[in-house]
Amino acid sequence: MTTWQARVGARLDPDVWEFLRADDAELLPYDCEATAEHAQRLHAAGLLTDEELDEAEGRLAEIAQDPDGYLETDEDVHSAIERLLGEVGRKIHAGRSRNDQVAAAMRLYVLDACAEAREGIDALALVCLSFAESEAETVMPGYTHLQRAQPVTLGHHLLAWVEMLDRDRTRFAAAAEAAAESPLGAGALAGSTLELPPPPRQMRNSIDAVADRDFALDYLYAAAVLFNHLSRIGEELVLWASAEFGFVQLPEAAATGSSMMPQKLNPDVAELARGKAGTAIGRLTGLLATVKGLPLAYDRDLQEDKAPVFATRRDVVRALRALTVLVSGLEVDRDRLAKAASDPLLLATDAAEALVRKGTPFRDAHEEVAAKVRAGEFRKPRSAATRPAPGPGGIREALAEARHRFADNL
Ligand code: ARG
Repeated sequence: MTTWQARVGARLDPDVWEFLRADDAELLPYDCEATAEHAQRLHAAGLLTDEELDEAEGRLAEIAQDPDGYLETDEDVHSAIERLLGEVGRKIHAGRSRNDQVAAAMRLYVLDACAEAREGIDALALVCLSFAESEAETVMPGYTHLQRAQPVTLGHHLLAWVEMLDRDRTRFAAAAEAAAESPLGAGALAGSTLELPPPPRQMRNSIDAVADRDFALDYLYAAAVLFNHLSRIGEELVLWASAEFGFVQLPEAAATGSSMMPQKLNPDVAELARGKAGTAIGRLTGLLATVKGLPLAYDRDLQEDKAPVFATRRDVVRALRALTVLVSGLEVDRDRLAKAASDPLLLATDAAEALVRKGTPFRDAHEEVAAKVRAGEFRKPRSAATRPAPGPGGIREALAEARHRFADNL
């Protein structure tokens, strides 16, 4: 039974029905929340009695908890809720359309997804921070072009991961801010003659309110950038855990074996984080392509916002949790790192800078040191300057400052 049966007389072809139906069961609790809010506005306008409001609110709380109530004969979650509300369901759709309803429910969904992402990011960042604290003095080679460049500390490097994650928090906060407006009251696109009281933070333009999916794109963008970071972190862990680098050992809680080669301990978690970055980018690109060129206001194409957002939320939460386990269990081979960092060539820049301090122009100093390196005559400078740390105050101050930034979550 559809909500629009009265207009389209003939029974819909089953193949058409199958094609039209939304795969949106995940939206059920969010739509119940938005519908309860709408019921209150109908009540405030005198269009629902006290008893009807109570009935609606009570039923909506039950419906939200019972996904089995949603049947294959329902076109989408909105139609299911209206049916499940029974008699009061016949009144509930006054002054709204599924167009503002679905946008409202998706906004609530994205708000939750952003909050969940931020929790996961904080957990991973805190683990990276503790790791950075214990490896604050562990010297390792720093890389550019994946070639050994200059000595750094592992703490310094891990604090770079923390910075990436901190920016991700900001991006999810911005996506949440974009989602936090209400399209309710927009109706199909032109509002309604019923003059319901406006919801808090009502969107200014009713046509925009039902057409806009920027908040979903913002969420997918935040997730795509987060996954880019998880992918880069994952890639470093894959390298560091290889026998060639041998910098870290994977914890058994977050490593896999081989079905054939008995000796293997594989970094599948890190690899899958890297792999899922591609999928996350695809989902952002997919929704961008869906929205591109759509005439305002609502078009059924917009139903396609569900799958990428739902799947991304699942991947974000799972990837962050798994990487948190992985990073918290890593064991560092400090000797191996020290040995890798002991290559005197890592101090070639320091040698050039020592000459600069004595008055040599930098380009001359660079050429002088390069000539020694080419001739195999480069020797470690006698007073190897201590490497600059992540900030002007050194690694300890950088650690304390990062701790302070994440302090709410300790
Ligand atoms: N299931 C639809 C969606 O997800 C709900 C809105 C349908 N609106 C309509 N006018 N057909 O977008």
